[in-house]
Amino acid sequence: MNAATPAGSAPAARIPRHVAIVMDGNGRWAERRHRPRSFGHRAGQKAVREAVEFCLRQRIEALTLFAFSSENWQRPQDEVGALMELFLKALDKETDELHGHGVRVRFVGELGAFAEPLRQRMQAAMAKTAANAALALNVCVNYGGRWDIAQAARRAAEAVARGELAAEAIDEHTLAPYLCLADLPPPDLLIRTGGEHRISNFLLWQIAYAELHFTDTLWPDVDQACLQRALDDYARRQRRYGKTGAQVAQAS
Ligand code: FPP
Repeated sequence: MNAATPAGSAPAARIPRHVAIVMDGNGRWAERRHRPRSFGHRAGQKAVREAVEFCLRQRIEALTLFAFSSENWQRPQDEVGALMELFLKALDKETDELHGHGVRVRFVGELGAFAEPLRQRMQAAMAKTAANAALALNVCVNYGGRWDIAQAARRAAEAVARGELAAEAIDEHTLAPYLCLADLPPPDLLIRTGGEHRISNFLLWQIAYAELHFTDTLWPDVDQACLQRALDDYARRQRRYGKTGAQVAQAS
């Protein structure tokens, strides 16, 4: 992994602080090569390394990856098994290197559904890298945006029951701290690879004002140039947050 700052990258002010990615297209990438879908997921692991390296180079603060959705359990059993095996091996293989680069790794989602050995490795990777600050890498597993909002509502309700929160005080500001990733700035840029134009239940709350970038590139083919194109696209956007273009231009 080489994290030197490249010449010719986008100016710092236009670099997103937090990038989220729906990594889509592993299956089609493998099918085009007449190989099993698991072959595509293994190839996708290399693209994960590219993305981490890219974010370190660009001094992006947070990278959030959708690795396994709440709905992915419905895939054929052998594919789910291959993915679990891949996550386990990736944790064994990559954690030390990520730690060496100052990456804080966090698994986000309902982790209780995973087998004990995988859960233990996830916890160990999180504990080992917890104090790192070069990049916050969030790997969403057994995650769904609706699940996230529901768990936040449940935890807020528990706080109400304990007398720590007034029901009438619940609004978007008081609910926000109960959502996953509440300690990070919300994603500025959401990238979806693989040609589909949908959100697929990813970070529904957190991407309220994210800029969306869609690319036809299948996830295993994603490289630094592809990610740079997404950043260049982002740098050209005017973020208005409900204001007019003239108001935003005047303020900046
Ligand atoms: C979506 O492609 C991809 C997934 C459901 C799995 C993502 C997993 C990886 C990229 C492997 C490595 C990840 C880590 C964190 C080590 P798809 O299978 O839906 O592709 P398709 O749309 O072409 O069928």
